[in-house]
Amino acid sequence: MEKTFAMVKPNAVQAGLVGRIIARYESARLSVVAIRFKKMTQADAEGFYAEHVGKPFFPELAKFMTSGPSVQLVLAGEDAIAKVRALNGATNPAKAEPGTIRYDWATSMTENAVHSSDGPESAAREISFWFKPEEIFEYAAQDQRAKSVL
Ligand code: CMP
Repeated sequence: MEKTFAMVKPNAVQAGLVGRIIARYESARLSVVAIRFKKMTQADAEGFYAEHVGKPFFPELAKFMTSGPSVQLVLAGEDAIAKVRALNGATNPAKAEPGTIRYDWATSMTENAVHSSDGPESAAREISFWFKPEEIFEYAAQDQRAKSVL
């Protein structure tokens, strides 16, 4: 089972979308194996988005990401990295496909509702940035979808 990192950003938290966004991941047969709710500090933003520090958009990104709490998630499942990227949609909401999270709920390139790792190296780095190994739970997710309302 592949693991990836995803985040529900502050605008989506404040819009009351935490449950609906996580439900989309779970409906795609991904399991939440680690979860945290945290208001990022400036140091968090600079560490997590290290590759973007110094880019023109970074100050606005850091201001937004430290403006309120966000949800940090590790999701596990088959092709988790590609699945979550597809569910999230394009970084720029103007280019996001209908049915994606960003098509529905991103309001701008910065306030784009969600984040996810873009490949295996970034997934490993981002997961270990937010979570200790003992905070990530391995379990065999049972497919209960036939019994659920999702
Ligand atoms: P995210 O997937 O969290 O990764 C970096 C974030 O920077 C991105 O989503 C956007 O919210 C934000 N961002 C703002 N402007 C840009 C840009 N021009 N290119 C890439 N990312 C940008």
